[in-house]
Amino acid sequence: MTSLGDGKFLDQDIRGTGVTFGALALEARAAREQAYAPFSGFMVGAAALGAGGRVFRGCNVEAAAYPLTNCAERVAIQKAVSEGERRIVAVAVVGDASYLRRSAAGGGGAGSAATGAERLGLFVTPCGACRQVIFEFGPDASVLLLDLEGDYHLTSARELLPGGFRLEGFSA
Ligand code: THU
Repeated sequence: MTSLGDGKFLDQDIRGTGVTFGALALEARAAREQAYAPFSGFMVGAAALGAGGRVFRGCNVEAAAYPLTNCAERVAIQKAVSEGERRIVAVAVVGDASYLRRSAAGGGGAGSAATGAERLGLFVTPCGACRQVIFEFGPDASVLLLDLEGDYHLTSARELLPGGFRLEGFSA
């Protein structure tokens, strides 16, 4: 099954960085502990892995002026960029997905879902703005979505944002 610590996939070294998907997942889980979410009560953790092998943690940071909230994914990536890492090869995101499962077909956990889009719908996924920011710094990035039970689903920046906006080739 897909619980954390069950071996093979999670033990894989991500693109020669020396960091495994399992290790990145644990970083995201730890990041979630720092979430500042008194308004929504919804805590999210993220970890962005740079091509150089450094991991940057992020959590959601809310504000009483609601639109000023930052999502965990963007916090992690902005930390990476602000510390000189502009190439993101993987992002892990951890959130409580139980509310997504209550109405899901079969009523079961992530393990009972079919593959692809249906399964994607059973995990907390990056919002549209975060997808664009992940794509900016990691168009080829892997994106690992995890729930609180340790079930996971692997997707990618491209799968999450087909046709993402780019400015390459543009000149004013
Ligand atoms: N949030 C994230 O941090 N990442 C996501 O992928 C989805 C949403 C945050 C924003 C807000 O603080 C709370 O979750 C509820 O929307």
